[in-house]
Amino acid sequence: SRVIYVTRHGESEDNAAGRIGGDASLAPNGTKYAKALARFIDRRRIEFAAEVEENNRRLAHFMASGSSSGANSEPESVTSHGSHASAPCSMPSSLRSHVQPDFEIWTSMLKRTMETVEYFDPLRYRIKNIRSLNEIYAGKCEGMTYEEIAREYPDEYEARQLDKFYYRYPGIGGESYADVVLRLQQVIVELERIRHSVLLVTHRAMARTLLSYFMDIPTTHMPDMDLPLGFIYGCEPQPFGNFLRVWQYDS
Ligand code: F6P
Repeated sequence: SRVIYVTRHGESEDNAAGRIGGDASLAPNGTKYAKALARFIDRRRIEFAAEVEENNRRLAHFMASGSSSGANSEPESVTSHGSHASAPCSMPSSLRSHVQPDFEIWTSMLKRTMETVEYFDPLRYRIKNIRSLNEIYAGKCEGMTYEEIAREYPDEYEARQLDKFYYRYPGIGGESYADVVLRLQQVIVELERIRHSVLLVTHRAMARTLLSYFMDIPTTHMPDMDLPLGFIYGCEPQPFGNFLRVWQYDS
């Protein structure tokens, strides 16, 4: 059992000015979000560990009652009777994997995501900065507002409206959503491989790409998904697809 949390960085100076791309620091509101995020994840870890523990207890009870008194015993007896309390020790190893072993935080290599995780206790969280999580690169439109792009490059603006997924920004290194999907493949492979929970602190296009992968959202919808700042998405892998929980920062 684990959760893959996805959130965008706190509000940056560029967000506040309506500029895309760049490598700006957090605005004061963004710093507030960073502090709240650390508190929220600390609390969620405890709650989630308790949920997992409760699940394990239920499983252990189920296993124990299956081999002795039958599956109809009252669930309360698990916590109130010493005889059931030792049951987890006899659980098969496949069930023991429900215990949460670890927790990592992955950010991009842009200041606004690294500053968003500054309030996490480094002794309790392993933090990795990953270049592939950087925001979609807008080539020669980096640092512009959407209005400036529409005014200075009307054809480009129009082309992006018509096919946002395949549209690639002009200029050296300019990317499309299709490019971003390819760039994120290694990150997704690693996310699938590891067994523990991860918080990804990243950017709008990245959050869209990651969530559309985990929630099976078609690429035709993905570039227009509404993922505002200040939301945290938690994907919990389940046997038949992922379960999504959403939390909103209450400033
Ligand atoms: O405005 C914030 C931002 O993360 C930009 O840096 C980025 O270019 C943009 O959002 C991506 O969103 P969209 O693809 O809708 O322009």
